[in-house]
Amino acid sequence: MDILGINHSIDAAAALVRDGHVVAAATDERFTRRKHSRDFPAESIRCCLAIGGVDLAGVDVVAFFWNPGVHLAGFNLRQSGAVRHPLEYLFNLPNHLLAQYPPGWPELEVEYVDQRFALRGAARDLRIVYVTHHEAHAASAFFASPWEEAAILTVDGYGEHASTFLARGRGERLEPLSRVLFPHSLGAFYAAVTQYLGFAANCDEGKVMGLAAHGEPRLLPQLRELLELRDDGGFEFDLSWFAWHQERPRRYARKFVERFGPERRPGDPLEERHRDLAASAQALLEEALIHVGRHLRRRTGLSRLCLAGGVALNCVANSRLIEEGGFDDAFIQPAAGDNGTSLGAALWVAHQLHGQPRTAAMESDALGPEWDAAAIERELREDRLAYERCEDIAAAAAERIAAGDVLGWFQGRMEFGPRALGQRSILADPRTLDSKAVLDARVKRREPFRPYAPAVLRAALGDYFRGPGDSPFMIKNFVVRPEVRERIPAVVHVDGSARVQTVDPRVQPLFARLLACFERLTGVPIVLNTSFNGQGETMVATPRDALRCYHSCGLDALAIGPFLLRKQGPRPAA
Ligand SMILES: [Fe+2]
Repeated sequence: MDILGINHSIDAAAALVRDGHVVAAATDERFTRRKHSRDFPAESIRCCLAIGGVDLAGVDVVAFFWNPGVHLAGFNLRQSGAVRHPLEYLFNLPNHLLAQYPPGWPELEVEYVDQRFALRGAARDLRIVYVTHHEAHAASAFFASPWEEAAILTVDGYGEHASTFLARGRGERLEPLSRVLFPHSLGAFYAAVTQYLGFAANCDEGKVMGLAAHGEPRLLPQLRELLELRDDGGFEFDLSWFAWHQERPRRYARKFVERFGPERRPGDPLEERHRDLAASAQALLEEALIHVGRHLRRRTGLSRLCLAGGVALNCVANSRLIEEGGFDDAFIQPAAGDNGTSLGAALWVAHQLHGQPRTAAMESDALGPEWDAAAIERELREDRLAYERCEDIAAAAAERIAAGDVLGWFQGRMEFGPRALGQRSILADPRTLDSKAVLDARVKRREPFRPYAPAVLRAALGDYFRGPGDSPFMIKNFVVRPEVRERIPAVVHVDGSARVQTVDPRVQPLFARLLACFERLTGVPIVLNTSFNGQGETMVATPRDALRCYHSCGLDALAIGPFLLRKQGPRPAA
């Protein structure tokens, strides 16, 4: 059975699941080059179908990331931006009623073809299943995890009427436990602070997380007054301080500005009070997540946690949630944002609805398209570029990085989630702060307060970092052991932490080989790993994107497939 999952909201995306096995997944922005695109994900659908060798007529079910029927009875129709067609309400009313009054799980199946789906004609008989947003997030984490049983937590801005969802996963079943309803929302709170600090809400939350380490949580006591942590594991904001539920351009109320001072405009200097507010908001988010996590831990009695939703991209909060929430281990969906709901909706239909057995756990998010050597070489020849075909591209790349080059690394299938994990990466030497300076000034052109992340051979993790277990998706935070900080200064954040990616040779043999070669040359099994894109751009997808970025973004070298390209001459100063 072929199930096509679709996310048609921020980070629009598609995924293809065949007989319970994930065949392909891709985020549309990589193809359209429009960051965080909300457009219908036609390109990623095309990509997933091509990888699966199936056309639309061959797809058995379309799994949609949102259930407008649940939304219909919501308290706030102004939040109904995700509804694609007024008729969706009508079609989903029965679904909604069933969902509210079970016995058991209803079949949320509607034969409905929206012309925006461009599925007319050949695909007239497609069945569309509307999966509730947080259940799609939850499925993306639990059904992709290696565990038979786990506690599940999903946290985001909102999905239909909920912002937080607690569940238990067992085998092929998700069992909902409780929800926190919008407008009480940790994701909305963090987005409001992001906007207050002069960054783009629903886009730049990672900047606030990076900034937080530069400040002190001096304002935490004041922020605590705005949030009540309830005994039942939920929470409630004092909404008189905020406006995210009122459809205003500003997500915080005037009162908030009066208490915390004027908001920072984009581009204004960052002052101490901005850094402190970032630190305080981060601390409040962490406290709230730990509160919810402890409740979930107690209620389920389970020590393994599956985590997804946009808030789960906050790797600093994730690590505290795991450790202080009382969990032994966590699986965090790498596409924790809404792109992951395409995959989750498809997995929900496969397992929850149709009871298909779960297959292998998701060990890699390299689920997108790839190009073979012949196709890459055609591009290089077309551009009349000088290149060298390497016997061992990993060894050649490691040599360039050890020599101080900032190197583009384009290999294999594209990542699905927002992190570059060694498929579409820019790599640099972690042993010198020059790498960070060059990346900040010449390549990424980004704010110096933001850290860069290390990729480390899994076996060497404990020698350099202390933290919550394995981290193949660069979505957990670690403490860099004080005694090694001077050896890898380019990847140590100001507070001594790092957002680590562990690389397992069994899962990523080529990238692991690069790290092993780098270790042989330098004694350090770590490289700086950041996404392959220039300032403000989305990550590269195709060889053509990679070449464009190589030429325009100040990279010294490019390892693309088996080919190595180098720019000649001395590198200009950062
Ligand atoms: Fe979401």
